[in-house]
Amino acid sequence: MEGIRVVLLGPPGAGKGTQAKLLRQKFDACQISTGDLLREAVQEKTPLGEKAAEYIERGALVPDDLMVDLVANRLQESDCLRGFILDGFPRTVAQAQSLDRMLDTLGTGLQAVFSVQVPRETIIERLSGRRTCQGCGAIYHRTFSPSKAGSTCERCNAPLYQREDDREETVQKRLVVYDSQTAPLVDYYRERGILREIDGVGTTEDVRDRMVRALGERGA
Ligand code: AP5
Repeated sequence: MEGIRVVLLGPPGAGKGTQAKLLRQKFDACQISTGDLLREAVQEKTPLGEKAAEYIERGALVPDDLMVDLVANRLQESDCLRGFILDGFPRTVAQAQSLDRMLDTLGTGLQAVFSVQVPRETIIERLSGRRTCQGCGAIYHRTFSPSKAGSTCERCNAPLYQREDDREETVQKRLVVYDSQTAPLVDYYRERGILREIDGVGTTEDVRDRMVRALGERGA
């Protein structure tokens, strides 16, 4: 497998989805955002969507076996042969171990894992103002990056919506889940020598450029 092969790791609202889209454009690679895949499944009422909905609403993690199957299938699609950006997966040590096995089977490995760091107050500010396009999934922010078309998407004209799990009490729950179940992955990848810490504050282009630079450093 050629091309970029990275994981974006970070708390809710760190900007992973925003950066995954920018990196996808820059590297012409596939973007695998497990949150987006799950929300699509919920909307389409697939068997996976029906199982996942109650976990997402509570701000809890969807069980590992469901997530591993979802990503394993997506990684084998032809567009991922040009490289991939994983956003929101892995989120537990068990998922990270499964990913290692999946990539081994495909004869490849991760190039880098970006740990995106932002202060907690920034997270709350970002999530409370986030608006997402119902049509193409573009991500906006009421104040920091509003749609030029107002309450519809400036790209595809579909309405924008506020995610159910961005209610304050669910955000607090997601942060607790991140600290207990996902933050241990920082050490998991640091020990493997592929962790790159990225300051997630600044313009979205600044953050993207930090990631691109980090890819060029230390042979990543
Ligand atoms: P998921 O959708 O992955 O949510 P998350 O990880 O909590 O991340 P978010 O989407 O909230 O934030 P983000 O970091 O992508 O930030 P964004 O770029 O949007 O998962 C949702 C749920 O699905 C989970 O809770 C779980 O239930 C389930 N799930 C998903 N994957 C799973 C897995 N692997 N295992 C088990 N369960 C799983 O940015 C946020 C806002 O900030 C936006 O408004 C944006 O415009 C703005 N912004 C971004 N960057 C900047 C910047 N540099 N400056 C100013 N504003 C910015």
